[in-house]
Amino acid sequence: MPATSELRSEVYEIWNAIAPTWERQRGHIEELAAPVRDWMVSELAPRAGDTVLELAAGAGDTGFEAARIVGADGRLICSDFSPAMVDAARRRGRELGLDNVDYRVVDAERIDLDDDSVDAVLCRYGYMLMADRVAALSETRRVLRHGGRLVLTVWGPPDRNPFFSLVAMNLIRRGHMAPPDPDGPGIFSMADKARTAALLGAAGFDEVRIEEVPGRFAFDDVDEYLGFVADTAGPLAAALRGLPDEQRTAIKAGLEEACAPFATDGGYALPVVTLAAVAR
Ligand SMILES: C[S@@+](CC[C@H](N)C(=O)[O-])C[C@H]1O[C@@H](n2cnc3c(N)ncnc32)[C@H](O)[C@@H]1O
Repeated sequence: MPATSELRSEVYEIWNAIAPTWERQRGHIEELAAPVRDWMVSELAPRAGDTVLELAAGAGDTGFEAARIVGADGRLICSDFSPAMVDAARRRGRELGLDNVDYRVVDAERIDLDDDSVDAVLCRYGYMLMADRVAALSETRRVLRHGGRLVLTVWGPPDRNPFFSLVAMNLIRRGHMAPPDPDGPGIFSMADKARTAALLGAAGFDEVRIEEVPGRFAFDDVDEYLGFVADTAGPLAAALRGLPDEQRTAIKAGLEEACAPFATDGGYALPVVTLAAVAR
């Protein structure tokens, strides 16, 4: 496995490059992720006046729900390590008319905030992609006040997430992507509940609850599905974007076959399972 610093640069390059298409797909992402976003904000249960930190916020929508609740006396720190993502979040926050939000470029593995300085932390689909997950979770624990809570989500196991694994398997089988390193960052690197609970324990969280939030992502056809993945799914998107047309056509044909069991009247509905954790 490459050194942590090399992995961190790779992750950074992938996400900073994807920010424009991520922002273009923001509305669609939120339609699909709404049940998970609502679960997270309800479990976070922010109170008026709280300071909430969102890490790896992307375009910021999860935290923006919390910002409305903490109100004028509270504050949301909306952060991501990609400056392009932070700019996308700032545009979205302005569109929503929010004025209690600080937008900051923050690497979750080295959070530049004081110890015990925030009441709650949100991180939707972020930690599993980080080069050093224990460092990021330990940093989260450090900045949380005593009794503060972390609400995070990551993707569940590949066999229950065909939305991602069908594309990943096609790319790996055709030699366009290396098989995932079990110890490296990646879409499924925190997919095992016991392992994620152990990582949280190692970072100093002693009360941990993990639930599953199942869902289905619906698409009219394989073109729309593949286009959405190429616009948003980090490492898969990076592999797809570099492909010449004939290779992409071969991937599409492979996916048409693989998606057949998930056909519906209007297209396809691909299962996803999210692991959703609350930790103190
Ligand atoms: C799958 S996106 C999720 C974005 C957002 N949380 C959402 O659910 O819409 C992953 C995000 O993690 C960010 N990220 C990856 N590693 C990070 C790190 N070490 N520190 C902060 N952000 C990171 C990426 O820049 C990207 O915006």
